[in-house]
Amino acid sequence: MGNSFGRRYRYGASFVDRASGVRFEGHHPLERPDLWKIYLDGAEGEYRNHGFEGSLRRQQLEDGTGVSLFYLGFAPDGRAVAGVRYHGPLEASHQAAVLEEMEASPEIDEIESAISKEIRLGALEVKGAWSQGEATLGHRMWIAISRTVHHSMNWLGAEFAIAAVSDLWLPIGPICGATQIGMTAVPYPDGRYRTIAVSWHRSRSLETTPPDYRQDVRIEAEQLSRGPLHLGPISVGPDSTWTRAYRPMVLDVSSRVQREVLRVLREDPSLQVLDRLSEQREQLAEMKPPPTSAHLEEAQRWVCYPWRRAVVRLLGPRAFAALRLDRNRNKLTSAEQARLRTLRIGVVGLSSGHSIAHLLAMEGLVGELRLADFDTIGLSNLNRIPGSVLDIGINKAIVAARRISEIDPYLRVIVNTEGITQDNLGEFLDGLDLVIEQCDSLDTKFLVREEARARRIPVLMETTDRGVLDVERFDLEPNRPLFHGILGDLDATDLANLPIEQKTPYLIRMIGPRDGSSRGAASLFEVGQTITGWPQLGSEVTLGAATAAAAVRRFGLDGDLPSGRVRFDMEEVLAGIRPVEVDTSAEEDQRAPLPDDPPPDGDDPIELIVDAARRAPSGGNVQPWRFEADPREIRFYMVPERSSTMDVKYRGSFVALGAALFNARVAAASLKSLGPVQLFPEGRHSHHVATMQLGSDSDPQIAPLNPRVRTRATNRRMGQPEEIDQSVLQLLSKGVEREGARLRFLTDRDQIAECSSLLAASDRLRFLSPKVHDEMVSELKFPGQDSVEEGIDIRTLEMDPTGIALLEIIRRPEVMAHLAEWRAGNALGLRTQVMVQSSSALALVTVPRPDSVSYVRGGAAVERFWLTAEHHGLALQPWAPLFLYAQDDRDLVSLVGERHLEEIFELQKRFSELWSLEEGETMALNFRVLHAPPPTVPSARLPLAHVLSRGPSFASSTVASNGHSS
Ligand SMILES: Cc1cc2nc3c(=O)[nH]c(=O)nc-3n(C[C@H](O)[C@H](O)[C@H](O)COP(=O)(O)O)c2cc1C
Repeated sequence: MGNSFGRRYRYGASFVDRASGVRFEGHHPLERPDLWKIYLDGAEGEYRNHGFEGSLRRQQLEDGTGVSLFYLGFAPDGRAVAGVRYHGPLEASHQAAVLEEMEASPEIDEIESAISKEIRLGALEVKGAWSQGEATLGHRMWIAISRTVHHSMNWLGAEFAIAAVSDLWLPIGPICGATQIGMTAVPYPDGRYRTIAVSWHRSRSLETTPPDYRQDVRIEAEQLSRGPLHLGPISVGPDSTWTRAYRPMVLDVSSRVQREVLRVLREDPSLQVLDRLSEQREQLAEMKPPPTSAHLEEAQRWVCYPWRRAVVRLLGPRAFAALRLDRNRNKLTSAEQARLRTLRIGVVGLSSGHSIAHLLAMEGLVGELRLADFDTIGLSNLNRIPGSVLDIGINKAIVAARRISEIDPYLRVIVNTEGITQDNLGEFLDGLDLVIEQCDSLDTKFLVREEARARRIPVLMETTDRGVLDVERFDLEPNRPLFHGILGDLDATDLANLPIEQKTPYLIRMIGPRDGSSRGAASLFEVGQTITGWPQLGSEVTLGAATAAAAVRRFGLDGDLPSGRVRFDMEEVLAGIRPVEVDTSAEEDQRAPLPDDPPPDGDDPIELIVDAARRAPSGGNVQPWRFEADPREIRFYMVPERSSTMDVKYRGSFVALGAALFNARVAAASLKSLGPVQLFPEGRHSHHVATMQLGSDSDPQIAPLNPRVRTRATNRRMGQPEEIDQSVLQLLSKGVEREGARLRFLTDRDQIAECSSLLAASDRLRFLSPKVHDEMVSELKFPGQDSVEEGIDIRTLEMDPTGIALLEIIRRPEVMAHLAEWRAGNALGLRTQVMVQSSSALALVTVPRPDSVSYVRGGAAVERFWLTAEHHGLALQPWAPLFLYAQDDRDLVSLVGERHLEEIFELQKRFSELWSLEEGETMALNFRVLHAPPPTVPSARLPLAHVLSRGPSFASSTVASNGHSS
């Protein structure tokens, strides 16, 4: 029913009032912002004449989004003489302004229910009718205006229309089919007026009107259905949607009005409808981290670009912003993007300003843009403004706004097409955070700066010649002279009084007579002679936009951006082009000779035993030991200077010394020189860890391990998981138990996988905690560049070139600092996970107590396990989690600070649970046990002479300060 007999009209359609010759055009405000302004001006004038301009609420109306249709009536001479606007179809009766206006009426309920009854079939509200017809045409146009009610009901598919009108209008009500609702008039807007509510029904109202009126409606409907008036196939009027529209219509179809507007738009067969929403949704779903439900469930929008005659379906504003700017991360994090979106920036001059404004929008550096330019695009602008030939003749600010809205229809862009003047500058600057001044006129440059300074708004200016960026932080320095004081205390008033030729010297001084490019400077003499204007290149303008955008990022994110001037001179930079020195160090590293460390010549048992000891493993290959020997004994000292953060309370060093001591015992046993060993002969807090008497004993259980001492190695290769014989596991455990420790294995693949995740998480923290990271980096040795006698020769890491390249990145503390700040970097543990999962089993050596003696014993057990395992064809790699030697919260804080305390605490807890550690049971070292070929490169050691000194015992205090010198 309802709509079935109605006609459908397109925005821009028009009819001519027979009585007056006035042509009424129906438009949407966004499709003709220029006409909408004329409508508002007309309405404001009318309201002002009646002394109630406040009730127009112009500011709310200005953006035009709440209005679905308006008409302007043009007299034959082209002047606008009448206007009226339509809201709706309303969603609910409470949206009707008439209820507010008629609030004082005793019949308000009746009015309300009249609207409510019609909402379902579509109710419009008629508002803001004005007419200057009487003065100009000797004719009031109320009757013609009232016929727009019938047309609008057809246009917007509504059965009902309502209006609040002056009771003076009542006599013409019956002529135009209007019915009064209730009997009472109310004083609105104030006591001088009597206002009543009237309504129309599409199907009924015409029946009661005079035949002439009905005929006019019919004729006009005919005209309207022909669609917009075309001025000819090739010419576009200076004022048309083509030249004037710049804001997209963002339509949310969950709102009835917007659904109706979309329907009206889609009636137009020349409108392109593009629907790529499903692709956007797919991309959104793939985002990392996954989008929130606020993004996924947000209502989609249809966005119409009137100047393109196209409508496109897009994600709603939040999801749109998240997806569109997703690839900014983490050059700009989400939090930084959100901060930047609060910026309000004005751009004055949209030639070079076009690229800047566009880039700010593209990069998401701004939440509101205001663009001011009076000029239009000419063909000779297209060497530097990335518009198109289709933009010729269109205002530069409009062209910029359009391109911006085509990247982001949701960004608020305000356009001033008059250019900056004394009168509109205040409104332009009001509430801005930053002004980018790119105009040609020296007067405007002064004007903008003076007012910006008064309002404490900073000013940026980019001058393309030699890429000069000027920053004037009037926000921080409210008394700062304009233009850095280059032009003295000249002000806008002085300048305004100068003849044009006297302004040029100031422009030259501003740029700097000696600083401009030579071609730019020479061209100055030619402007007006052999060239039309000051030359500018597209590349320079584009680079200028990039530098301005970088400055805006700093400004918006509290980076360093002081007042001053800086140059980005491409020519100068290119003049510095140099051959690239190829870094071949990586290949050289690989070619460096392998460490060769033969056993000592001769049969001096002391040398042979200490040589075995120094071949023990130590965390980071720091070799935290020193040996003193006399013919009776060998004394083992811990060297505290070699300790590191991870080596909490020297626990790792004690483990290493325990391993060294075990190697010494194996060598002594094979030489039949074994004597008693005493741990911490000078007390548990001394660095004198052990003394081994030289005797004549052997130990048949460990002596056969002697050849393994020289070949044992940390194997960092990928493994090939295989089952390990239970008998071998038992044998290994027994050996460890003999040393007073305990050996546990994980062979279940799920448990291995879980452990790999914990170790990966711990390694991530190791990279992200600055002190530990720093120590780890300095441990890495690049053969050919560094000595590999201590530390980790990177060749022993068994990494391919990709791994090494990644390692080079991981070494950079500032890179790790970003990952820490973003709470990211999970990928840092990926290699750990893969490597650990390639193991045949995981092993953990534990000791009963966390004291130094136990750790030394644990170290001996570690080495016994290692040598025996290799004897049975297994390979080992310790994989120490960061928390390995931490016993309490203070220890954990010493590793990662407060920042990651909770995380590391949780990891340590889960690790202990996974291994089912008993109360007090203390970890000495954990391993991956693997089946793999032997390592490619053996690790080196400090020379024997470096760590061994001969002579009687020193006091322990001397030992500590004496470090590792022999
Ligand atoms: C307490 C301790 C902790 C260790 N932690 C690791 C580790 O986390 N990752 C690793 O690859 N090697 C680790 N190692 C092995 C040493 O880096 C290795 O023993 C040292 O570089 C000497 O090399 P080699 O074992 O091949 O002789 C550790 C060794 C010890 C004693």
